Amino acid sequence: MASERVKDIVASLEAESRKETLRFITCGSVDDGKSTLIGRLLFESKNIFDDQLTSLESDSRHYGTQGEKIDLALLVDGLQAEREQGITIDVAYRFFATDRRRYIVADTPGHEQYTRNMATGASTADLAVILVDARKGLLVQTRRHSRIAAMMGIRYIVLAVNKIDLVGFDEKIFSAIEADFRKFAEGQAYFAIQAIPLSGLEGDNVLFTSPRTPWYSGPSLMEYLELVDVRAVSGRSAFRMPLQWINRPNLDFRGYCGRIAEGEIRPGDALRILPSGVQTRVKSIIRGFGEVAYACQGQSVTLTLMDEVDASRGDVVAAAEDPPQSADQFEARLLWMAEQVMTPGRHYLMKHACREVTVTITKIKYREDANTGAHLATETLGLNEIGTVNLSTSAPIVFEPYRVNRLLGGFILIDKLSFETVGAGMINFALRRAQNIHWQALEVNKAARSAIKHQKPCCIWFTGLSGSGKSAIANVVEKKLYVEGRHTCLLDGDNVRHGLNRDLGFTEADRVENIRRIAEVARLMVDAGLIVLVSFISPFQSDREMARSLFAEGEFMEVFVDTSLAECERRDVKGLYAKARQGELKNFTGIDSPYEVPLTPEIHVQGMVSPEEAAGMILSLLTL
Ligand code: ADX
Repeated sequence: MASERVKDIVASLEAESRKETLRFITCGSVDDGKSTLIGRLLFESKNIFDDQLTSLESDSRHYGTQGEKIDLALLVDGLQAEREQGITIDVAYRFFATDRRRYIVADTPGHEQYTRNMATGASTADLAVILVDARKGLLVQTRRHSRIAAMMGIRYIVLAVNKIDLVGFDEKIFSAIEADFRKFAEGQAYFAIQAIPLSGLEGDNVLFTSPRTPWYSGPSLMEYLELVDVRAVSGRSAFRMPLQWINRPNLDFRGYCGRIAEGEIRPGDALRILPSGVQTRVKSIIRGFGEVAYACQGQSVTLTLMDEVDASRGDVVAAAEDPPQSADQFEARLLWMAEQVMTPGRHYLMKHACREVTVTITKIKYREDANTGAHLATETLGLNEIGTVNLSTSAPIVFEPYRVNRLLGGFILIDKLSFETVGAGMINFALRRAQNIHWQALEVNKAARSAIKHQKPCCIWFTGLSGSGKSAIANVVEKKLYVEGRHTCLLDGDNVRHGLNRDLGFTEADRVENIRRIAEVARLMVDAGLIVLVSFISPFQSDREMARSLFAEGEFMEVFVDTSLAECERRDVKGLYAKARQGELKNFTGIDSPYEVPLTPEIHVQGMVSPEEAAGMILSLLTL
């Protein structure tokens, strides 16, 4: 008897696990009735448990907006705190099932400041239900969300024209909104759009088609969700799997673990590991606790291979006859998600598949108008703005265009100091120039050039406020080195700004570019075997870190000339502080432009130290 019951349970679990899963996102503007609509889907498809129903009834009396009726929105709005504020926060994933399918719904708030949450939800969804209030039609936020949905790879759209009861079930209003949306959608890469007139509150066309919209002959929302085939859109199927880790429990076993991003695999299949390009074949596939003869997209597996090939986390295992490309320069679409504006030239961390690399935005091609999609010229990207940019990574990555594969084409950008996610991007293609410019292997290298000069090259980087004494100290250091017969070069902010950087001013973006160029020049000079002294205000921590990252360990020395603002202002050698105070000079460091104090400089020059004393400290630390 008991074993019969166990059999039943196992059978039903198996049936459950064979069901297809449809992931969708609901989005739209504030107050367009999203929560009520999802609540109704859950309620009517009997996915609410009795205890939830009881608490829903009492909550409806307490918070509800529906008089004596149950307020279905409360079912979805979840947390008490959120209810109290009257908004939904973050991405909430709801699960429900029918006999046919399992559903995962990402519900995100409509407020503009939560656009990033919407993007997060959309990144794993196959379909978007875009809600529009029939009384209001398409809003800027509807367009913004629809554009992000397309950008994130969603190809199936349900245009849910909600609150149709409040416009008297008027066919004309519905048709006008649908026409408006189809016109907007012409420029988007959607595969199918289904417009449905419905009422989340009253239930019309949610589960069943409604007699109150006799002019509408399409499916109800639920009918559509049950039948839509979202797989039709992806035609490709070559095998790709980014490696998460190499499992070596003992010397006899080496397993290559990851989640299959695309395609299918069987023992014996020919593979190529990228970026190295090494070829091998599949020996066995392990899934869960046992060996299997087949695995496909979305499954997590461990592969054993015929050969003991070297590979590490972030490498990609691919079908040998159809491998993806690798490159280090790309064009991508980028959604900026941070308050702090995006600045070309700055270093960010890029998380792509299972790999992390340093990346800079080398160029912003244009920004898209949220409403019209028009391409606008811009220097930076602000919060929630979408732009098309060129990127350059510190090492090649194995990728595919996002439209071909979301996992190998999508990435996020992380701020190197705060570790916050600041952007989400989709690779369009590799820049051809990246493929045509190779490193020249030069026979006379840095070591040879330094040896002939009898010195160890390095970069001594002076940072501090204008008038802090950077150049004075650098000058003494250079003189002493010169006397010792060393080969040096001093790069000074004021001087370089007369030549190489004469096109740059003092906005944040210009300062970032100023430092980027000078750091690159310093690196070339270190390559030439010189001891380079760099004397620039260099007010931003991330740019100084970027400069440091260009050099080998022990080659870079940061000297913080820590003279107080009051003292610099008292000296005011060039009369610039006086001008800045009178408002005649804008963006002056220390006055109306920030200086970020170095946290761990190799040398901290503090107090009333003379340039000679400071120079002595620096020289004593140099090993030449
Ligand atoms: S940085 O911030 O981009 O590193 P940099 O060292 O090149 O600055 O140039 C600083 C010098 O430019 C100062 O010593 C000063 O003589 C001059 N200067 C002119 N305008 C400004 C300004 N707005 N802020 C700082 N320095 C300025």
